Amino acid sequence: MPLGQEIADPGELGAGRVGLRVIQRGDAEPLRQLLTANRSWLTRWEATHPSGLGIVPGSVSMKPTIRLLRRQLRAGTGIPFVIRYAGELVGQLSVSEISGGALQSAQLGYWVSEHVAGRGITPAAVALAIDHLFFGIGLHRAEICIRPENTASLRVVEKLGMRYEGRRSAYIHIDGAWRDHECFAVTRDEAPQGLLARLPQLP
Ligand SMILES: CC(C)(COP(=O)(O)OP(=O)(O)OC[C@H]1O[C@@H](n2cnc3c(N)ncnc32)[C@H](O)[C@@H]1OP(=O)(O)O)[C@@H](O)C(=O)NCCC(=O)NCCS
Repeated sequence: MPLGQEIADPGELGAGRVGLRVIQRGDAEPLRQLLTANRSWLTRWEATHPSGLGIVPGSVSMKPTIRLLRRQLRAGTGIPFVIRYAGELVGQLSVSEISGGALQSAQLGYWVSEHVAGRGITPAAVALAIDHLFFGIGLHRAEICIRPENTASLRVVEKLGMRYEGRRSAYIHIDGAWRDHECFAVTRDEAPQGLLARLPQLP
């Protein structure tokens, strides 16, 4: 895939009761309410701006944010998905830093609402996204970086059998400070059957 080329909307990707689709304007209010309800669940893991300036997620309309996120599709730099479970919006999965040229790679980030945690929704959503990146778009590599303290998220990459690559020190500004991250990756050659095939069951 050449860098900077518009990425086509893949429509609804689904496995079991888990669905992924590109975020839409109509998600603004349900997403705002979900972010507000999950403040204490999410704060510790949320990206923040080093300047200290930033809006508390859920405190304002999500419409401008959704417009900005959808711009990534047109620029070919990212795919902003929402995660759905049995038709209900339960979280977000962001594919970002899509690089073409000699890299052909992308990074993934995610969250789900506390009320649906522990059902295996995120591993299925990540598998759907990475299988699309590899077999739909033709990327070569996907990467996920996680704070060492985030045991729940470390289980997600473990369930998917992603390869540990090492620690990046002070890598991302999270919850008000530069935080170390453990980085995991998978290449298309390592997963010729895709990542969904690695999950014993789907929620
Ligand atoms: C990390 C996260 C996305 C995992 O999503 P998920 O859909 O719950 O994933 P799983 O169902 O596979 O659960 C993963 C692990 O979470 C832990 N877990 C399960 N239920 C839980 C709950 N109610 N509360 C806290 N942790 C729980 C378990 O250790 C579980 O592993 P197990 O299945 O071996 O028991 C989710 O916990 C979350 O959104 N956390 C807050 C935001 C965040 O950390 N994002 C990732 C940043 S890298």
